[in-house]
Parts: sequence; C-alpha cells; structure tokens
Amino acid sequence: MEKGETKVIWLDELGAQYAEEGWGRTQANKSIDGNPLSVAGRKFERGLGTHADGCYRINLDGKAKTFTALVGIDDEIEGNEWASVEFSIVAYDENNTPKSRVLWKSGVMKAGQNAIKADVNIEGLKEIRLIVSDGGNGINYDHADWAEAKIDYLGNKPEPVKPYTREPYILTPKPGPVPKINGAGIFGVRPGSSFLFTIPATGDRPMTFSVQGLPEGLTLDGKTGRIIGVVNNEGAYNVKLIAENEKGRAKRDFRIVVGDTICLTPPMGWNSWNCWACGVTDENIRASARAMVEKGLINHGWTYINIDDCWMIKPDSDDPVISGEPRNKNGMPLTNKKFPDMKDLTDYIHGLGLKAGIYTSPGPYTCQGFIGSYEYEAQDAKQFANWGFDYLKYDWCYYSRIAKDKSLDELKRPYMRMRDELLKQPRDIIYSLCQYGMGEVWKWGEEVGGNCWRTTGDIVDTWSSMSKIGFSQNKCSKYAKPGCWNDPDMLVVGNVGWGPELHPSNLTPDEQYTHISLWCLLSAPLLIGCPIEQIDDFTLNLLTNDEVLEVNQDPLGKQAEQIIKNEDYQVWAKKMENGSLTVGLFNMDSYKHKAIAIEWSKLGLKGKQRIRDLWRQKDLGIFQERFESNVSPHGVTLVRVIPE
Ligand code: GAL
Repeated sequence: MEKGETKVIWLDELGAQYAEEGWGRTQANKSIDGNPLSVAGRKFERGLGTHADGCYRINLDGKAKTFTALVGIDDEIEGNEWASVEFSIVAYDENNTPKSRVLWKSGVMKAGQNAIKADVNIEGLKEIRLIVSDGGNGINYDHADWAEAKIDYLGNKPEPVKPYTREPYILTPKPGPVPKINGAGIFGVRPGSSFLFTIPATGDRPMTFSVQGLPEGLTLDGKTGRIIGVVNNEGAYNVKLIAENEKGRAKRDFRIVVGDTICLTPPMGWNSWNCWACGVTDENIRASARAMVEKGLINHGWTYINIDDCWMIKPDSDDPVISGEPRNKNGMPLTNKKFPDMKDLTDYIHGLGLKAGIYTSPGPYTCQGFIGSYEYEAQDAKQFANWGFDYLKYDWCYYSRIAKDKSLDELKRPYMRMRDELLKQPRDIIYSLCQYGMGEVWKWGEEVGGNCWRTTGDIVDTWSSMSKIGFSQNKCSKYAKPGCWNDPDMLVVGNVGWGPELHPSNLTPDEQYTHISLWCLLSAPLLIGCPIEQIDDFTLNLLTNDEVLEVNQDPLGKQAEQIIKNEDYQVWAKKMENGSLTVGLFNMDSYKHKAIAIEWSKLGLKGKQRIRDLWRQKDLGIFQERFESNVSPHGVTLVRVIPE
C-alpha cells in the first residue's frame, strides 16, 4: 500500500469487548440481543450493537481523518416504543482544558426513527469517545446501533482504549479454626412473636454453644446454636453468646430487644429474582438454602431465603404448570405447580436455621402477571404467616392501574393496608416496600410500616447500572436507622441472568469489591442474587468478610454520607457505633489507577488515627492529618479509621 493512502478500519474490527454498556454485552455486527442490526426496517451488515449508557473509546495519533456511522435504535425492541437514546461523538484530550469537546450529537432518537448519519472530521485528535446516553428517560430498552461505523485514517491504526480488568483476586484471609462469633450484635423481636436466631460462628466443627442471660421463653440448642421460643415481656436483654470447640472459645455481647421495632440491622440473605426470575422452582430455593449452610455463609450472618415473583398462579396463562384457580374458596392464595407445598418449603428453610421470604404485589397482578393481593390483603397476610414466612417484598407493579394518581396518599395507601394485616399475624414479618423510590419513599417508608424500601429501579450487572444506583444514595442517607433501611436493590455478584440462562456477573472483580463495599457503607439490605450452590471462591470471599459485613450490620444503623464527589473519584464515610468511621475511597475511572487522598478535616477528625484495610483485614498503620491509597480502576479501598 502506498504511503499517504487513506485506510479504513471498521468499529466492529476494533473489538466489541472493549465497549462499556449499561445492560447486556455489546456485540460486533449484531444487536445487543444478538439479532442482525436493523434500524427502522433497514438492515446493516456491520457495526456494533450496544446499549445505553454506552461508551467506546478509541485512541488516535492525530492522523485519522473521519469517523462515519449510521446510528439509531435497533428494531428488536419492537413494542417498547418509549425507548430513546442520544448518540454523541466526543473529542478527548487529557492535556487540554476542557478535556472533552462534543463533535457531533444525534439529538434524542426514538424507536422506529430512521438511522441518522454521523460524518465527523477527526483530524488532529488523540482520542474520540462514542457515547450513547439514555435520552433522558432511563435506560429501559435502549438498544443502540453504531451501524456501518468506520474510521478513515492515514497514520497508525486506531486502537480501542481497553477498560481495566484483571483476573478475580482474593483479598481476605480464610476464617481460622478457633471459634469466632460474627453477625449483628443486636436482634429485635416483637413480644409474643416466634423467635429464631442462629448464632453465626466460624471455626472448626463440632462446636458447642451456650448463652448467658437468655430471657425467659427462649431456649438454645447447644449443638446448632439456634435460639428459639417466644418472649412476652418487652425490654432489652443483654446476653453473652459463647461458642467452643477443640481449638478454643469465643464470647460475644448480644442484645435481644423485645419491642415494636424489628429488623434492627439490614436484612442479609438471598433472593431468587436476579438469577432464576420467573423460572424459579421449589428446588432452586432449597438448593440455595442448603448451600447457604454448606458453603458456610450462615456462619457470617446470612439468614433470609426469599422467593421473588412467579410462585403464584398466572390466571391467563396457557401453561398448565402455572395456570389454574388463583385462590381457594376462602380466598386464600394458591401456589402454582412449581411450588407443591409452601409449608414444607419453609419448614425445610427453618430446619436449616434460616428464614424464609415471599413476594407479592398490592395490585391485582404482579409485574409478571401472576395473581396479586389486591382486595385479598387479609387472606394473603394470614396465609403467608400460616406458611411460616418471615419477610414480604411488596411490589407496586399493577397497582398503578388502581391508584387514582401518584399523590402521596395514593402511594402510601396500599402499603398501609398490608402493614395493618401483617401486624395482626403472630409472626414478625419484615416488610420490604418495592415501588422504585416513587414519591421519595425514604421520607415516609417508616410511617407506612416499612422496614426497607427500594429507592431505585431494578439493578443489572453492569458498572453503569450498579454505580448509578449506588453512588446516588446520598439523598436518602439521613433516613436510614435501625428498623428502616434504604434499599438500592439486590446484589449482582456471582452467576446472574434472570433465568434460565445464567452468566458470571459482568462487573469486573474491582467493580464487585466496589459493589459490596458500597452496599455495606449504605447500610443496604444485602440480598445475594446468584444461586448459592454455584458460588465460586472469589464470590464467597466477597460475601464472607466479617469486617466488611460488620460495617453493614453496625447497630448504630447510620448510612454513609458522600464526603467527596468529583468526576474522578468519590469518598464516602459511615459513622460506626464504637466512634470509629468506615471510609470508602472509590476510583470512578475505568482505565487508570488513581491515588485518592482523604484529609481528616473533611471527616471531622483530628490527630492520630489507626487505619485498617477491611478487605485485607490488616492494619496499615497510624496516620496523621490524611490517608492516601492507590485505587484500581472502578475499584475501592475500604478502611476503618479508628481514633488512637
Ligand atoms: C420488579 C422488581 C424486581 C422483581 C420483579 C419481579 O418490579 O423491582 O426486583 O421483583 O419486579 O417481577
């Protein structure tokens, strides 16, 4: 080829794997769902199929000439006409001020709109970024195509900028053989309600348990560490938990608070949705429950095994497995054939020392069109209690067809209705509101009896989704307290996928450390979303670091506050009961390591502080005035700052 001749490189040749996207995985020459690229009926052979929020970075040497593409929303989203995206092409140069400059914008594009041509002069540039944003209405169904995208260039071949990722790496030492008691130091129960608490302890088995100062009505099984019974008298009981084995003995203070407030620390458990979604079966639930014990998660305080949507009857379904009469003649809810015996299932879960959760909607139907509780709230609450459930997720969904409007009264009404029914039951049932944050639910979730409330739409396993949700929780920080938790949705670590096909989380290992660290700082409910029986060593390490979980379970119940926020990094700090702080230093950059510093003055501290790295469970030394750490791209350094 002659010198000076213009060459062409197609975007799909650069590699789809280097794209960042808000949902799914970007594909070369296919839509994000794997169909032929197609915009408003026009098919394209080449290009990238991606999803908002998306970013593709390309390094240039100043000698590239033009970037051209035809952009639009892929036809595969048919029927979801609200999808809208905006494409933009941005020049970026770290050494310039400002660093970025918009070269071209498509304007907000709608589903079904013809592809728009981008033809941009990129001469002299060092980097361009191909951005897909959500068009202002969230990322749902934002399947976006960069069709026939190519660069004409003279000098070196344009290269994708590769987001940083590395192999999974384990930071936390394994628990030792000597007994150690973990989990929350406090537990709330209503007077007269049935009590179940399993002492979470690591260390070699066999282990024997004893408790000093157990209130009247409770008994301990010394072999399993399970405390059961009923306490009738209100009060705070200070007890001592003891665990012993051949190697040693552990003793820990524990408070049982018998009163009106339950859920004194954020619930920790598992939920079926982020893995099995509507494919869920009784056996999926049992398998995760069993693995919760066999893999040892129960020894770190993990407790709830929650069934999400799709256990009930779907009245208009043709599938004999899920269709049928939704209720018996007394109006009590019936299960579909995938859940042959709910009582047997909760007995199984309780028999393992765990607790059970269930799901429904205040509307006539759930999100997936199964029967909801509307006008049967009394029967449903009673049946859930009869079956032995300890947790209810109550998901708005079809209630939007009942509510007159989105006024606060209408938003609150269905949640108060079910609260009244739950309180009549002889069991403590944690009440989890799911209505995606409407009407700033964090301001009134407590008033309608909620123990936790979703503050956002659904999470998926991408950096864009997880970080957008997690780092936007400062608005509700001050409303979190014992019994009342902001819920930024469930965890997306391990094998996820909304069933039946699962895939390893698309979050990088560093992003997963960030996810767990942030959710612990936020005092968020921790609900594992992958099949526990499939958990690998990396994921197990993420979920069983007691010093990290202790941040989440701290009895003071404060949620972290955002101390620093800029484009490059964020610092969050959470007040702990013992007067220390937990601080997370988060690198927002996908590509570069960053030295992140926090000054004591920003944390309201003075003088010498001991710093402990929580993921490594290691003291880093005594620091004066400030602490600095080199943090991986999209990663975190999580430390306890303890006054000396
Ligand atoms: C959504 C909810 C999800 C899941 C799903 C079930 O509304 O946010 O967490 O429960 O419904 O259909």
